[in-house]
Amino acid sequence: MPFPRERHRRTRQSAAWRRMVRETRLTPDALIYPLFVVPGSRVRQPVGSMPGICQLSVDEAVKEARRVAAAGVPAVLVFAVPERKDPQASDARDPHGLAAQAIAAIKSAVPELLVWADVCLCGATDHGHCGHIVDGGTIDNDSSIATLAEVALNYARAGADAVAPSDMMDGRVQAIRSLLDREGRATTPIISYAAKYASAFYGPFREAAESAPAFGDRRSYQMDPANVREALREVLTDVAEGADLVMVKPAGPYLDVIREVRAAVRVPVVAYQVSGEFSLIKAAAERGWIDERAAVLETLTGIARAGADLIISYFAPEVAQWLGA
Ligand code: PBG
Repeated sequence: MPFPRERHRRTRQSAAWRRMVRETRLTPDALIYPLFVVPGSRVRQPVGSMPGICQLSVDEAVKEARRVAAAGVPAVLVFAVPERKDPQASDARDPHGLAAQAIAAIKSAVPELLVWADVCLCGATDHGHCGHIVDGGTIDNDSSIATLAEVALNYARAGADAVAPSDMMDGRVQAIRSLLDREGRATTPIISYAAKYASAFYGPFREAAESAPAFGDRRSYQMDPANVREALREVLTDVAEGADLVMVKPAGPYLDVIREVRAAVRVPVVAYQVSGEFSLIKAAAERGWIDERAAVLETLTGIARAGADLIISYFAPEVAQWLGA
């Protein structure tokens, strides 16, 4: 049925039509908001490269959690930026460490808000790598996953509703699942950063989380941006090891990966719109070069259209408000 009988514009001619035939619908139910927690009290330290985002002391993180929940966002992702940094990642393993305190405080103040805890060593180690270092520079897989499991257990005991390992070591989902189950935490879900790429778009986050590696880079554990088959291997392995949700990260430059991962697994797929994706939009909007709200909604719609069930975004509270949650 060629033109002129076929006319695609018929169902585009009014807002009412467009609303009805829309294929992808954004909802606040799918959003997760990251929080960066620092020591002290009454601290709201702006992150220079991420306008509107602050490092927050525990008391301020609790306030922010209340605001986010009131905006209609169902979950936060907690990153701790402890002062104590050592080779053993002691602060992350400590029941009185910064992350554990923040998780417990948010859970007790805003119980209905889900608290996802990022599990990694980079924020609590002096070298800033995501695993333990041996031989003066190699990241050792097997000792790292033992520590990561201890960190996950510590966060689960503090009250985390889910643990999210972001280190990219092999076997860490299995190590975490085994320890949680052994220690009576069989109901704590694992959200695996399964396809996490070695990306230039993490730059602003490393300022926020003070987690830039002191030497080298993360390419021996994070994925090569050129690879998609490898992403499928990663997610299938993590699901087999017990991951309850899998993540693709970053989101915008990896929409094809999101699409393929969605088709390959039966668990929910999470996409992380990372700090660099956020800062690009903010910087252009500050210069008046782009309409921030329209650009944000378009990027999130694209990520959802590609197949993401859930989206972690620094824009989450604003988006929830725009969507009228
Ligand atoms: C660290 C971690 C990173 C992010 C989340 N967890 C950065 C990195 O791997 O260096 C990036 C998040 C962002 O850029 O918003 N394990």
